[in-house]
Amino acid sequence: MGKVSKIRDRRFAIAPMMEWTDRHCRFFHRLLTRRALIYTEMVTTGAVLHGDRTRLIGFDPFEHPVAIQLGGSDPRALADCARIAEDFGYDEVNLNVGCPSDRVQEGRFGACLMAEPGLVGDCIAAMRAAVRVPVTVKCRLGIDDQDPEGALDAVTRAVAAAGGAALVVHARKAWLKGLSPRENREVPPLDHARVHRLKAAHPDLEIVLNGGIGSLDTAAEHLAHVDGVMMGRAAYQEPWRLIAVDPLLFGEPAPFDTIRSAAEALIPYIEREVARGTRFYAIARHLLGLFHAVPGARAFRRYLATEGVKPDASAQVLRQALALVPDTSIDSARAAAA
Ligand SMILES: Cc1cc2nc3c(=O)[nH]c(=O)nc-3n(C[C@H](O)[C@H](O)[C@H](O)COP(=O)(O)O)c2cc1C
Repeated sequence: MGKVSKIRDRRFAIAPMMEWTDRHCRFFHRLLTRRALIYTEMVTTGAVLHGDRTRLIGFDPFEHPVAIQLGGSDPRALADCARIAEDFGYDEVNLNVGCPSDRVQEGRFGACLMAEPGLVGDCIAAMRAAVRVPVTVKCRLGIDDQDPEGALDAVTRAVAAAGGAALVVHARKAWLKGLSPRENREVPPLDHARVHRLKAAHPDLEIVLNGGIGSLDTAAEHLAHVDGVMMGRAAYQEPWRLIAVDPLLFGEPAPFDTIRSAAEALIPYIEREVARGTRFYAIARHLLGLFHAVPGARAFRRYLATEGVKPDASAQVLRQALALVPDTSIDSARAAAA
């Protein structure tokens, strides 16, 4: 199975987001952009090694190119998980060095690893030895009172020396004491210039910038300084933005002309999944922001959120919700949101 990565480049990625970028969400996002690199939610080594693997990390081949994000800090366990992920067909294995949650701190992985660049290097080297697909890292600028210059440089050097293919930097620190994970995505200040400087200092390592990128125009500006951009909340909360990724960032045709046609393209998938026992809303919840900033968006969202949660809800609910909004072109959505 898939030992050859289908990643063509890392110019645009959709961030790993727990509870959000599950396989239904990823399938939907893949309809909207053929070129973005898509990430799973973080999955811990313990879950991969001992859990229901197909449920946890199974995915649809349509999702390619898709990267799995692992949480862990034991090189051997990470190597085993990387091998398993490669056998499942993932195109990249990414190590989480940015999550600040208490659970992750207890397990001594995630953002805590910013203080242990040597261990990060050992983890990457072990994973690299186990797989042929690229191994990458997603990190922060630093943690707590670390000097963000030295801390990020040390992790970057460790990743490069161990043969990591790319480093994604969420351009703010994580403060491990006193802030919730959510606050840790908002309170520590963003410093995009630090990531631009990092790229200048490491021309041979692919550097991807993440954090606070709210539009594709901003993404395009950053691409003058870094190899790629990763969009998280804006991609999830306003997924219509993704329909412009292929034309704006890759010079390729958009897969759909209108937002409604993109949503309609998901209907066969919904019907297939519902027939297999998936709840309609497990898929439809990822569509709530689809018409964000467009006239009729509120009616669409409200209909989906109230009718979609009913036990017998089916693709028909989506059809009815779509009838409540005008068939908006991507260009007018971009203009409305600008
Ligand atoms: C609901 C949610 C869940 C997240 N889960 C993860 C995760 O599993 N792994 C990870 O590296 N980052 C996670 N993040 C952080 C994002 O990947 C990203 O770094 C962060 O949201 C900043 O990018 P943005 O400003 O474009 O959203 C999560 C973010 C959100 C909003």
